[in-house]
Amino acid sequence: MASKPVVLSGIQPTGTLHIGNYFGAVKNYVALQDQYECFYSIVDYHAITVEHDPQELRRNTIAMAMDLLACGLDPKKCVLFVQSQVPEHTELAWILSAVTSYGDLQRMTQFKEKGEMQEFVSCGLFTYPVLQAADILIYKASKVPVGEDQLQHIELARRIARRFNSRFGEMFPEPEALLTEAPRVMSPADPTRKMSKSLGPKHYIALTEPEKSIREKIKTAVTDVGPRPEGEKSPGVANLFLLLKLTAPREIYEQFEADYAKGTLKYEPLKRTVAEYLIKTLEPIRARRAQLNESEVREILHEGATRARAVARKTLEEARERIGVGKLIA
Ligand code: TRP
Repeated sequence: MASKPVVLSGIQPTGTLHIGNYFGAVKNYVALQDQYECFYSIVDYHAITVEHDPQELRRNTIAMAMDLLACGLDPKKCVLFVQSQVPEHTELAWILSAVTSYGDLQRMTQFKEKGEMQEFVSCGLFTYPVLQAADILIYKASKVPVGEDQLQHIELARRIARRFNSRFGEMFPEPEALLTEAPRVMSPADPTRKMSKSLGPKHYIALTEPEKSIREKIKTAVTDVGPRPEGEKSPGVANLFLLLKLTAPREIYEQFEADYAKGTLKYEPLKRTVAEYLIKTLEPIRARRAQLNESEVREILHEGATRARAVARKTLEEARERIGVGKLIA
């Protein structure tokens, strides 16, 4: 049986997905299902490394699964599961921590940035990239679809794999980041910043945002913010064009580009058109989301965890064996 390369990605249960997450990452996850053997993990054990509310984490984990399924992740084509339901990840993380350089962890920029935002900096936040490496290596994944901001973590996972292999024998393939050109959708209220939930409700459009609110957020989207160099769109206008490109038929997009080039572009029709096509694009996602019920989703996640565990258990057993803790009792 010719096996397809293995893909793994992890996504934090941050509550509902927004269109920045969708166009920037999830749409790509959906496309990858047809080419690779894909594992997609909702990484709840990563979410507890900063202060969190348990109720909210539980809710967000299910909500994330629902959003991902609504976007088109198909349990027949990929393995969708919650990280904590495959406890082998955390056990492997401990093993890998023994081949992770302390100095390397100290250099992680995400740790420095997130750490600065916390009153209490947990040890878990520091070792977060080791768990991430375990997420990847436990499936012997060779491709990891991520954004630019995760490249340092993937590079570290490679170093961890390499050190394990050289000390205990070749076992883990070195994973590679799969950097597809992911469009960076910006905040409508501040188009100099990447769309993000943490900036507040004006700064993102949720996948399940009501139509009225989508229209309102696009209508009030910031366009011009002072003088620009000749021929360069302001960030807000560029963001509207990006959304149009992602959602509208090509002719429509090109018409607006032509108007812009001629200097006859009016923001009002541009915004109206962007809102229209965005709503149209999100409609099937909204419809699928509305059809999913929680018990069905729990079932899918349970099934996903079972399939993931079958693979994870083997890798963990192999790693335990290699380091000298496996099969102590015959
Ligand atoms: N650290 C990633 C992020 O913040 C999430 C993540 C956890 C991940 N485990 C992973 C991504 C494994 C890719 C592979 O987005």
